[in-house]
Amino acid sequence: MARKISFLNYKGGVGKTSLVVNTAACLAAKGRRVLLCDFDTQSNASIWLMRLERWNKLNAGGHGSVYSFFEPGGVHLSDLVVRDVVQDKSGHAVLPGLDLLPTTFNLVDLENEYNGDPKKPAYLLFQEQLGELAQDYDYVLFDCPPNLLRASQCGVFSSNEIYVPSNPDALSLIGFTLLVEKLGRFQQTSAGFRTAAMGPATQIRGIIFNSIKTGVDIEVPKMRMQLRLNQFKTVKRAAADAKIFTTQIRDAMVVRRAVTLGLPVNLIGQENTDSTRDNVVHDYHALAEEIEKHHP
Ligand SMILES: Nc1ncnc2c1ncn2[C@@H]1O[C@H](COP(=O)(O)OP(=O)(O)O)[C@@H](O)[C@H]1O
Ligand SMILES: [Mg+2]
Repeated sequence: MARKISFLNYKGGVGKTSLVVNTAACLAAKGRRVLLCDFDTQSNASIWLMRLERWNKLNAGGHGSVYSFFEPGGVHLSDLVVRDVVQDKSGHAVLPGLDLLPTTFNLVDLENEYNGDPKKPAYLLFQEQLGELAQDYDYVLFDCPPNLLRASQCGVFSSNEIYVPSNPDALSLIGFTLLVEKLGRFQQTSAGFRTAAMGPATQIRGIIFNSIKTGVDIEVPKMRMQLRLNQFKTVKRAAADAKIFTTQIRDAMVVRRAVTLGLPVNLIGQENTDSTRDNVVHDYHALAEEIEKHHP
């Protein structure tokens, strides 16, 4: 059964998208079949992996992204998946095994204009159809916006695990705290829709520190995060085995450049970057490895 993981923090800009894209690419590079679901209407993961030109066509067409699933007469999820999404400039697949459920700007209408059956919320519709599609994968990863509105709910309800990307600062800690509060409420309202076949209810299972600058000591923010996590574990609002990941992702220019190149960092040749590339590629591989070992 595929592991389904949402990457979520109520703080924006902490590195959710960068973590999902690069971790997904490292998992695919070691032969795992990965489906990345982009649930952020900003579409950063989709633009990154499809490259701007291809994504622009999808966005302008108004069909074929995840929102088409929610429209009347919705398109089947498997028809929306972009298989082997990462291509070189001549259109050849360069990372078999990494598929994308892309989003475009119209996903915002899911929050504003969606009038689905109140007895069948959007997240339930999505989860039911994902179940079948997920059988083709080892991992289904969700890139979520910094909130728990309808789009995020689809990821969270369908997942069994949540990882919280964080920067070593007070705002990330606040974002984490807010997430746990909102998650508790969402779980209450959605509990009636859960079935045994879905596996264990979605739980916070990890905090991942990102964008760590060389020479900056993060022991104090890490300790504060650990204390908060322990408090949540005590009241069962985080999994008993939830942890701060040993792997931290270092700050590296190449992560910012990767979007323009339309490649995850493990596929960027050294000629296109600086010496920090090897460090951060090592970090993403180590993170993928640690996630594999942190199997529930
Ligand atoms: N390890 C890193 N090193 C350098 N820049 C990073 C790193 N991770 C993320 N960034 C940059 O930080 C910004 C926010 O990252 P992003 O992944 O978009 O965060 P989020 O999805 O949480 O909003 C982007 O400009 C991204 O390129
Ligand atoms: Mg993002």
